[in-house]
Amino acid sequence: MKATAAQTKPAETTASVDQQPEAQVAEVSVKVARSIEDLMQAFAIRAAVFLSEQNCPYAEEFDGNDFTATQYLGFVGDEPASTCRTRYFADFAKLERVAVRREFRKSGIAAQMINYSLDLCRQKGYRRVYGHAQARLVPFWQKFGFEPINDKKFVFSDHEYVEIECQLAPHPDPVMVGKDPMVTIRPEGDWDQPGVLEQSATRPATNPVSDDQHDEAWSTELKRQVKNLG
Ligand SMILES: CC(C)(COP(=O)(O)OP(=O)(O)OC[C@H]1O[C@@H](n2cnc3c(N)ncnc32)[C@H](O)[C@@H]1OP(=O)(O)O)[C@@H](O)C(=O)NCCC(=O)NCCS
Repeated sequence: MKATAAQTKPAETTASVDQQPEAQVAEVSVKVARSIEDLMQAFAIRAAVFLSEQNCPYAEEFDGNDFTATQYLGFVGDEPASTCRTRYFADFAKLERVAVRREFRKSGIAAQMINYSLDLCRQKGYRRVYGHAQARLVPFWQKFGFEPINDKKFVFSDHEYVEIECQLAPHPDPVMVGKDPMVTIRPEGDWDQPGVLEQSATRPATNPVSDDQHDEAWSTELKRQVKNLG
């Protein structure tokens, strides 16, 4: 998903403090993390924002739930600028770890990434996305359709939180059983275009087997032939 955003060059790339920063139009885009390098970029952003800016202890930020989630990466131009993750439960998804690098705040990447993640949940069939919002950020989350689900505040990692929830409209083309079987084996989030396994379908079905399976099949056939001879 791509858009453009007026962006001010990060401070270190400006030539001199006397000069006005050069205004640029940078492309803003979002993707699902699909490789170890993508994950490293996502985790680097999280570390910069939560460990460095918000003094979160490492073990609380990297909580053991990263391999059960869809991880997202936002870019401003070619630079990894934002991240978040979604984890899945029976009838709701949970959006977490939303972070935009300080130098890319107000670039529009936060909104694009959050909306992209909500749309992916809709396409998976979810109608509810749940979250824990830092209490000061409830108005930010309301911009995306989230509302507090009660008045209770609770505390972890040194912040006060509020439970929030967003109701999603049904997706017009959700991923579901009964459609083309190839859809569910496409890369996560790219369900509307053919994936690499559709390219593999142009090869004939040779039903390859391992050596062990081959030996077993051959031995069964041999026994059958010996029995027929006898
Ligand atoms: C929270 C965060 C992700 C927002 O990213 P951002 O780039 O600053 O957000 P944007 O400026 O693009 O804001 C998007 C919209 O939310 C609004 N907004 C931003 N911060 C807000 C706040 N504190 N309260 C109310 N609205 C807010 C903006 O005005 C904008 O609205 P608009 O589109 O109508 O103009 C970013 O500040 C961040 O990474 N903070 C540190 C990590 C963090 O606290 N994560 C959230 C944990 S719950």
